[in-house]
Amino acid sequence: MTPIILVVDDEKDIPDLINMQFYREIESGIFEFLFASNGAEALEILEKTHVNMVMTDIIMPNIDGLKLLERISDSYPKIKTIVVSAYGDIKNIRTAMNCGAFDFLVKPLQMSDLSITLKKTLAAIQKEKEMEEQLLQSAKLASLGELATSVAHELNQPLGVISLNTEITTEEVDNGNYDSVAETLAMTTKQVKKAISIINHLRNFGRKTNRGEYQETELNQIITETLILFQQQLKRDSIEVVQELSADLSEVFCHPIQLEQVFTNLLNNAKDALKDASEKRITIRTFRQEMTNIVEMEDTGQGIPQKNLNSIFTPFFTTKDMGNGTGLGLSISYNIIQEHKGKISVQSQVGQGTIFRIELPTLSKS
Ligand SMILES: Nc1ncnc2c1ncn2[C@@H]1O[C@H](COP(=O)(O)OP(=O)(O)OP(=O)(O)O)[C@@H](O)[C@H]1O
Ligand SMILES: [Mg+2]
Repeated sequence: MTPIILVVDDEKDIPDLINMQFYREIESGIFEFLFASNGAEALEILEKTHVNMVMTDIIMPNIDGLKLLERISDSYPKIKTIVVSAYGDIKNIRTAMNCGAFDFLVKPLQMSDLSITLKKTLAAIQKEKEMEEQLLQSAKLASLGELATSVAHELNQPLGVISLNTEITTEEVDNGNYDSVAETLAMTTKQVKKAISIINHLRNFGRKTNRGEYQETELNQIITETLILFQQQLKRDSIEVVQELSADLSEVFCHPIQLEQVFTNLLNNAKDALKDASEKRITIRTFRQEMTNIVEMEDTGQGIPQKNLNSIFTPFFTTKDMGNGTGLGLSISYNIIQEHKGKISVQSQVGQGTIFRIELPTLSKS
């Protein structure tokens, strides 16, 4: 995907100047520019478009560059910002850098400076993206190891039935009992399908994520498929699963494999939290509020102490023993939900349980 740079400046000739200067990069898809002439216009564009970098003038009418910067670091923390200010305006530049600006440029703009700064910022964005993908991948492989045991159980069951049915079919044929053969074979086919669906599912699990793979999908279906892999583990730990899945959801434009990873992480956490609980129950609830689809994952586990509530989404924060948790599950889930323009939040009471809530908008493809 071509990185998008939003330039916010009230000087009328800026768009032409920049488009002319960078026409080669624009033509070859190295980056692309959007323009806004004030902060309010910029915020409107940010809401609709996936922008990677913002270059903003500081002094502008209505929402100025510093206010814009604040709004960006609150709502779009991944966007890198470059501020542009008059030569000598050290105070504003310092404030901007303290507010989280990535770099600054002074006016009048030197095109060679601009070019170096843009490329440096894009390289930083690219690096961050790669690191994030690596994290995603390593956590996936860790949970894959954990899942291997339950998958073995899951596959064992249909294979057992298939093996038994083959013996029965042979006997039926030997005895000339042809009437029952069709029925036995139908049962066998069902089990084969079950095994295939487990394997298909796993094939996707360890694979590298491709950001181009968004599709319209039903959330309930992703949840049901995630549960297939967990059934055996949960049963073994005597955990009851209650599914309250609403038929009223709209389809979500999403990356199904990534969302499945989020549900997997939440289920793993709930399972761990229920270890010493007297009542062991996980309730998965879906419902819709206007254009938002909501998934709630509730457990009756140990709960999260108030003092930890602010840290649980931080990478590597874990209360689990060495080897039992990397502390990446929730931070990765948080990133995935953010990429989907959704929200993840938590409510918890020590000794009573925890509810994770995910809100996903019905996204359009554009
Ligand atoms: N359902 C829950 N109930 C109680 N505590 C939870 C729950 N979910 C998360 N936590 C707390 O949040 C911490 C961070 O969770 P996170 O999933 O990010 O990492 P982890 O489970 O420790 O390790 P990993 O997921 O990488 O194996 C957990 O260590 C735990 O203390
Ligand atoms: Mg976890």
